[in-house]
Amino acid sequence: MPLFWDRHVYPLLLEWVCSTRSIVAERARWLARVRGAVLEVGVGSGLNLPGLLPGVVTRFVGLDPSPALLARAAARPVQIPTTLVTGAAEALPFPAAQFDTVLVTYTLCSVGDPARALAEARRVVRPDGQLVFVEHGAAKAAGRLRWQRRLTPAWRAVAGNCHLDRDIPRLIEAAGFGLAELDARDTDASLLSYAFSGVAVPR
Ligand SMILES: C[S@@+](CC[C@H](N)C(=O)[O-])C[C@H]1O[C@@H](n2cnc3c(N)ncnc32)[C@H](O)[C@@H]1O
Repeated sequence: MPLFWDRHVYPLLLEWVCSTRSIVAERARWLARVRGAVLEVGVGSGLNLPGLLPGVVTRFVGLDPSPALLARAAARPVQIPTTLVTGAAEALPFPAAQFDTVLVTYTLCSVGDPARALAEARRVVRPDGQLVFVEHGAAKAAGRLRWQRRLTPAWRAVAGNCHLDRDIPRLIEAAGFGLAELDARDTDASLLSYAFSGVAVPR
């Protein structure tokens, strides 16, 4: 994507799309479950930061490949010890078993290699830790899924590599997590709207 789009247009588009009323409510619901030393993979502009509970979250590391988005995250006031790191989900720059919670929200759709990213999440989470996820992906209805597949190439080009059609629960399980809780549902009629939220634990 052109540099101007990446730096100035995409961050605003992303915040707009990721801040609808239903998405804000869904974030709040699952952020209440986030605890301990936390890694957010694909922290973006830090939309989750205000929802983290001080005291319950003891340390927060946010990782993202985009300097423009990390700059927006860094501008947010925080009450929790926070570090922002430039990097990619597929090669996390952390030793194994470091985090009580790995958090991903609306990120598994966008990473280049979601299987590799989830294998890395599995590596850095503690054995008694958790993956908290709030994502969107492949619809159950065959007709809608066909449209998601058709439209993904064009959507990816303008929306930071966002895929409409990834099977998020299957990817999470294939990386060595068990789905302790899964809420999978159509949220409205749009192609973006098949939502997957929940908690997965290392198997
Ligand atoms: C739709 S945004 C969501 C941002 C944030 N998690 C939120 O909920 O507002 C997708 C994010 O994934 C990030 N991303 C894309 N490829 C990535 C990768 N390979 N590793 C880590 N993050 C990536 C993007 O830079 C962007 O911040």
